[in-house]
Amino acid sequence: MKNEVKHDTPTTFVIFGATGDLARRKLLPALFDLSRKHMLPRSFRLIGFAKTSRTHEEFQAFVRDSLENVYAGEDIADDCDAFLASARYRQGEFEDAASYERLAELLIEIDERDIGACSNKLFYLAVSPGFYKTIFQNLADSGLTIPCGGERVLPSGALAKDGWTRLLVEKPFGKDLAMSEELERMLALLFKDEQIFRIDHYLAKETVQNILAFRFSNILFEPLWSREFIERVEISLFEEIGVEGRGMFYDSVGALRDVGQNHLLQMLALIAMDDPKEMEAPRIRTARTQALGALRMVSADDVDVRARRGQYEGFMREEGVRAGSTTETSFRVVAYVDNERWRGVPFILEAAKKHSEKKTEINIYFKYTERCLCPPEAEHHHQNVLTFRIQPDEAISVVFWAKKPGFATELEPKRLSFSYKESFEKERIPDAYERVLYDCIRGDQTLFASTEEVQAAWKFTMSVLENWNSVELKKD
Ligand code: BG6
Repeated sequence: MKNEVKHDTPTTFVIFGATGDLARRKLLPALFDLSRKHMLPRSFRLIGFAKTSRTHEEFQAFVRDSLENVYAGEDIADDCDAFLASARYRQGEFEDAASYERLAELLIEIDERDIGACSNKLFYLAVSPGFYKTIFQNLADSGLTIPCGGERVLPSGALAKDGWTRLLVEKPFGKDLAMSEELERMLALLFKDEQIFRIDHYLAKETVQNILAFRFSNILFEPLWSREFIERVEISLFEEIGVEGRGMFYDSVGALRDVGQNHLLQMLALIAMDDPKEMEAPRIRTARTQALGALRMVSADDVDVRARRGQYEGFMREEGVRAGSTTETSFRVVAYVDNERWRGVPFILEAAKKHSEKKTEINIYFKYTERCLCPPEAEHHHQNVLTFRIQPDEAISVVFWAKKPGFATELEPKRLSFSYKESFEKERIPDAYERVLYDCIRGDQTLFASTEEVQAAWKFTMSVLENWNSVELKKD
């Protein structure tokens, strides 16, 4: 693996919104797990920044409580003590310039007194997207994003800067195309592209990453990977949970923005993209962008055949949801990638909350075979299906046709499958957030969305959203 984390480079990780749900459920457990696996720089500091008033000790107790919840039943006491020793807290308002000065003071104090060197700084925005603009501006104005170290000459003769700063931004990146373009313009003025890490945690899921390895490191399927042999692709993300206390946020967003504009379209991009030829971030991101850029827009004329939306029973009783809300909690959208390879092949994107089963899956349906080696009178409907089971029970499987034992020639569908659990018994699949954080620290942008991908995904999503009102909202 290139760009390993440099263990001897001090790094300070600042979480904006450190007392929120994302930090508690995902970020803190992921950082802790990296820490106990010795995958973080040796000199690592965690700073919580949020508006709740807390002392360092209270924040440490909050972190411990979050970890004990996630790792219930495991003995984490010693590792937890070691991890907590690095944690500090600063109270602040995201809109208040003076709060950033106080944060800067804490960071300088840590660098000077505690670490004794200029540390790299990572700012993670685990906050509602409504705060992005303000935080970008305040971060830049306060000088917090300026590397604190000087320049030094590497053995190669190149100049390197110590103490880089990076910004991690969660999806949804904007609420629509216009807002996302505005955020991008702002980011481009304030930060360099290599400082910005736009998160779509689906890209960092082990099973999603495996799509590229599967497609481009095996000869079996890639020659068949086109409209000539593939009938349709189905990509679905079903969850048993509802909005889980995020009613107010979710009501203003809806399922299409929440998981369609990002997770489902990113999975589509990985299925539809061309061979990037090399495992290089720019090449892979460009190939994903090209696939997304070829999506055929939905229009007023075809929206009723291409899109459906629904709302689960009881959504309006969730805390924070408006009475009479028409926000969708499920959808089905038929996408087409209008290029030589895919013209005419439907990519069916589906998502739902409060579904009967938790399941994220990609099914590739190959065309029915034109002929079969079976008796002339036999019913002939032989189709191969390739499944990427993203979660749970992570697996890849293929449905094929086999002869039933006996004197008659009868065929039956059977499944060839590879299960992660069975094949990698001893290895635990790392959580996507561990990968996100690790890659950001080592500066690898492959599993992060580029600005071009985000824009292309928004363009397509907007074409559905602009016609959403003419699609009847069904009760799920
Ligand atoms: C998030 C959405 O991005 O993805 C949530 O905001 C959703 O609403 C979640 O529940 C699904 O992610 P995962 O990793 O649990 O499948």
